[in-house]
Amino acid sequence: MNPTITPAPTTEEELQQLRSSLPKELWFNSYPMYFYQNCWNIILDSTISCQNHFQAQDSDIFIASIPKTGTTWLKSLIFAIFNRNNYRISENPLLKHNPHELIPQLESIIYANPQNPDLKTLEKKLDYPRILGTHLPIQSLPTSIKTSNCKIIYICRNPFDTFVSSWLFYLNYDENESVKSNMIDEYFGKFCEGKFPFGPFEDHVLGYWKQSLEESGKVLFVKFEDLKDDPKGQLKKLGEFVGYPFTSEEEQDGKIDEIMKLCSIEKLKEVEANKNGRVYSFIENKWFFRKGEVGDWVNYLSPTMVERFEKIMDEKCCNGLKL
Ligand code: A3P
Repeated sequence: MNPTITPAPTTEEELQQLRSSLPKELWFNSYPMYFYQNCWNIILDSTISCQNHFQAQDSDIFIASIPKTGTTWLKSLIFAIFNRNNYRISENPLLKHNPHELIPQLESIIYANPQNPDLKTLEKKLDYPRILGTHLPIQSLPTSIKTSNCKIIYICRNPFDTFVSSWLFYLNYDENESVKSNMIDEYFGKFCEGKFPFGPFEDHVLGYWKQSLEESGKVLFVKFEDLKDDPKGQLKKLGEFVGYPFTSEEEQDGKIDEIMKLCSIEKLKEVEANKNGRVYSFIENKWFFRKGEVGDWVNYLSPTMVERFEKIMDEKCCNGLKL
């Protein structure tokens, strides 16, 4: 994996200089996105802090994604896979905690306060490897993630479902009063231009896709649609990839089915922490669980909108990736 592109700034002065030199957009008229390392980064200071300081370990597992592609679901599945023999199913922490609390995001939770990262969470003695989430594009990952033997599971999703999920998610925010649901065309236009949190979408996806082809032992590429279509097959693949495969006895005893049920959107929606809790002060946990369906975009996007993005994908897509 290519270790780095440009060195990250290390002083506040350098950071300020960088901020003022980068193209900037306000997502939903509220959240600054900077075009940093070929990506519209919505958490620049935290990204730079973790690029400068985070040390990956060979045993670490990262769940990488562009937001709204099924990150929460994959986190719950990976947590359940690793902990399948640590708890009785009825006592699984997923029934008490939101998946983002159990598997924190590297840049937006651990390094949320860039000057004072939450290293305690990283140092916690766990009886399974450190598992962290990240929305960073592959080129912006801290160098130690690229050079160590840690593993990355990347989840991607159909771009239209991803856009719709993101659109509806951001409409929930109180601060976003100036953005109305009838502005979907305008925002889809921004998505097509790549001006979307952690976009361009297709570059984020292709970066990890290409790496998964080059280093299949390090990067596993998973599709939301495949998880829906063949959850059992995908769970087996995940177990094998993280070095904790299901035995045939476990399979016969229904362990995989148990995990699928535990991590189903219906079950997770019932969990009190997911109904009323907050992992991020500005997001209600319940927003992470909407429909969880494939193809809901047909209810929101017109054929012309779809064609426009398909053209962009056709121009960029390669190596057999179909989304
Ligand atoms: P929809 O808005 O289309 O319903 P992320 O976790 O990356 O933020 O993605 C959120 C999307 O994943 C939402 O999609 C959400 O409903 C869906 N999702 C969350 N948990 C899920 C689960 N257990 N099974 C299937 N989909 C799930």
